[in-house]
Amino acid sequence: MHTLDAVDDLILAEAAVAEIPAPKTPAPDAPVLVLEAPAVAAELARRGRAVLHRSDLLADEAWLSPEDGPSLAGRPPADREDAVQPSVVDAWDDPRLADVRLVLLRLPANLNALDELAEAIAAHCHPEVRLVAGARVKHMTRGMNEVLAAHFADVRASLGVRKCRVLHAAAPLPGSRTTAPSWPRSARLAELDLTVVAYGATFAGTRLDLGTRLLVDRIAALRPASGTDRAVDLGCGSGILAAVLARNGWRVTGVDTSRAAVAATAATAAANGLAVPVRRADALADWPAADLDLVVCNPPFHVGTAKDSTPAFRMIRTAARALRPGGELWCVYNAHLPYLPTLRRDVGPAEIVVRDRSYLVTRSIRA
Ligand SMILES: C[S@@+](CC[C@H](N)C(=O)[O-])C[C@H]1O[C@@H](n2cnc3c(N)ncnc32)[C@H](O)[C@@H]1O
Repeated sequence: MHTLDAVDDLILAEAAVAEIPAPKTPAPDAPVLVLEAPAVAAELARRGRAVLHRSDLLADEAWLSPEDGPSLAGRPPADREDAVQPSVVDAWDDPRLADVRLVLLRLPANLNALDELAEAIAAHCHPEVRLVAGARVKHMTRGMNEVLAAHFADVRASLGVRKCRVLHAAAPLPGSRTTAPSWPRSARLAELDLTVVAYGATFAGTRLDLGTRLLVDRIAALRPASGTDRAVDLGCGSGILAAVLARNGWRVTGVDTSRAAVAATAATAAANGLAVPVRRADALADWPAADLDLVVCNPPFHVGTAKDSTPAFRMIRTAARALRPGGELWCVYNAHLPYLPTLRRDVGPAEIVVRDRSYLVTRSIRA
């Protein structure tokens, strides 16, 4: 359920101001592109605007979709006859973007995620596009202005209102439309002999996270037995764990709720000549029960900017259901997090395989 908060209110108010010096080529029916802000997209649709939208997290997009079952309760009511269902933009070369003159964005904390969005807006939206990007002041950094200035000639900040602020950007830099996109990016991880591909919002980018390293060292030794080779990299990020398993003969699927993650995992697999199907999904909630032989997981402990173990517990619970009896769940997480009792309760017998100063790796066997 999404409701308008102070950031959304300010984005909407500043957007109205941004539209006042009307574009040189007025286009009242042109769609507004709303990024990472489902409540804003719903509000504009309710006001009768044509809305294109896109968010990294599946739940944010699904909330606006007519097919979405469980979260329909919070969806924008069709309380106006002219309310139009917002429509998802799946690819940056979607031709509908060429008509977009207004983009509204909740600023992601990750500057690479912002860079990819700013680059795509400058390259694919109308040349008169205006961007209104907001956040709480405590989550904003100078780096955000610099990232926007790498793609737009005019960048300025609004006054603060209720501890929020927006950045206005306009006038895409010359060359924005003709320069090849800089995302996704790839790098060679020599220690794993692997090419890693990442989009802006992919966890850890093209780097090897310290927790991932501790887990990958252990799972690299796991070999499938004949007939028990079905694996999932749950919360696959850039797909490093999935790629290592695939290389060792596992039939592994990458699952993640993030657009940037599933696209990166598919690209990492392709860059290494591996077959790794991907699914954008909320944990393993929809996976068939008792189907998997192995799940590996480096769960998140943040949701946005807030510490939150809810997704980790959901990943553990749904993995337990998807594993066959005797199947294994390998996890890595911050040593201070209290996941071991949950692993033992939801999955079965669990042991700590290795720990360092920050992380521990556990192996749980499905009872
Ligand atoms: C700590 S990162 C690990 C990424 C990668 N496995 C690695 O080790 O580099 C956690 C990942 O879990 C994903 N995630 C968070 N909540 C999720 C959920 N409910 N279902 C699936 N994936 C989720 C995030 O998008 C992120 O890619």
